[in-house]
Amino acid sequence: MSPRVLVLSGPNLAALGSREPEIYGTLTLVELESQVVGEGERLGLDVTCRQTDDEAELVGWLHEAAAAGWDVVLNPAAFTHYSYAVGDACAHLVGVGSRLVEVHLSNPAARETFRHTSVVGRSATGTIAGFGAGSYLLALQALAD
Ligand code: DQA
Repeated sequence: MSPRVLVLSGPNLAALGSREPEIYGTLTLVELESQVVGEGERLGLDVTCRQTDDEAELVGWLHEAAAAGWDVVLNPAAFTHYSYAVGDACAHLVGVGSRLVEVHLSNPAARETFRHTSVVGRSATGTIAGFGAGSYLLALQALAD
């Protein structure tokens, strides 16, 4: 059976394609997720993609992955910068032995000051930022290695 990986995207990422294309590019979330699923197949991973604007739903999915022993690729979007609930759920996920890759399409370190803080990064196995959809693909490659 292929190892299962949850690929989770946080708030406002459903608007990819039309959302600040000069920062996030013109790929829609559907197109991005189709690349992600294709890369997962190539790497022999069983990838499931989900997106939510809801903090509680995202926390629930992180707990689901923790209980099942799945690895997670997470773009927490704006939750990255202030959601201690998402950060704590990530700490729990990694604490029970799953791996977590924090990803960003843009490079938050090169943007506004409030984006320089990640409350998720302290728990992440690794972080990949700044490569557009490639950040997600690189995260899957890291998990497959
Ligand atoms: C983002 C960066 C965040 O600062 C922002 O709030 C997002 C997207 C990224 O993928 O570059 O929504 O996580």
